[in-house]
Amino acid sequence: MSAGIRARENSCGISIPRETLPVTVPDFLAARHRGTRLTMLTAYDATMARLLDGAGVDALLVGDSLGMVVQGQPDCLGVTLEEMIYHTRLVARGARRSLVVADMPFLSYQVSPQQAVENAGRLIKEGNAHAVKLEGGQRSVAAIEAIVNADIPVMGHIGLTPQSVRRLGGFRVQRDEERLLADALAIEKAGVFAMVVECVPSELGRKITAAVKVPTIGIGAGSDCTGQILVSHDLLGLFNDLRPRFVKQYADLGNDITHAVETYCREVREGQFPSAEHEFR
Ligand code: KIV
Repeated sequence: MSAGIRARENSCGISIPRETLPVTVPDFLAARHRGTRLTMLTAYDATMARLLDGAGVDALLVGDSLGMVVQGQPDCLGVTLEEMIYHTRLVARGARRSLVVADMPFLSYQVSPQQAVENAGRLIKEGNAHAVKLEGGQRSVAAIEAIVNADIPVMGHIGLTPQSVRRLGGFRVQRDEERLLADALAIEKAGVFAMVVECVPSELGRKITAAVKVPTIGIGAGSDCTGQILVSHDLLGLFNDLRPRFVKQYADLGNDITHAVETYCREVREGQFPSAEHEFR
């Protein structure tokens, strides 16, 4: 089901069913106030966006994780703004109801607030995103403020920030409670409408959620966050290079694909496919 984001009335007082209403940034904030849990998954193309949206997910993140799960790179540092715009446009085309959030890739917002606004603007204008996401706590306040001042909704991202992988020396659980709480409060003050909290002990996920008024979207941050996000390739069993503890695999599509393609190859080689039903007479 979709996050409990409720039916709304139009200006004539007619109640419009939840399933047909697009999820908005204010819906995210309202969900936090109502105590409803938000669902979010990554998507990188129109077909997957259509499937995830149709299954009722509240928001789709065009994550720079596409560097790893789509492009086959070892991390997300090489992903470019042009690539993010392209994939965001595909996802926005496939999504009907879900909020579409585009990740700002490495070095597309760190240089200056002006650079951050210009690049966030391109993700909105050329990619058709509804909001952008960027990494970092106190160090990203100036970028967040500048983008929010341009009327572009920003989702924050604290805890394990994958774009910091070189400094961190790997993808590791983040435990500095004092700094992470200060990060959460700083980006909330700067104007984020929600924040991803990645790979922190559950107790810290709970404390961060209690400390802020905006929704927290956890990934490896425990069940007390307002919502949860996973990389869809992990959830569907399409990507096995990394197996973080926080991933729950709900399907085994990787093996299903291998099995289907092996069967196809065998049937072609043995002359079983195409058979009469697949031929034109
Ligand atoms: O890029 C991504 O997919 C992300 C999620 C892991 C939150 O940032």
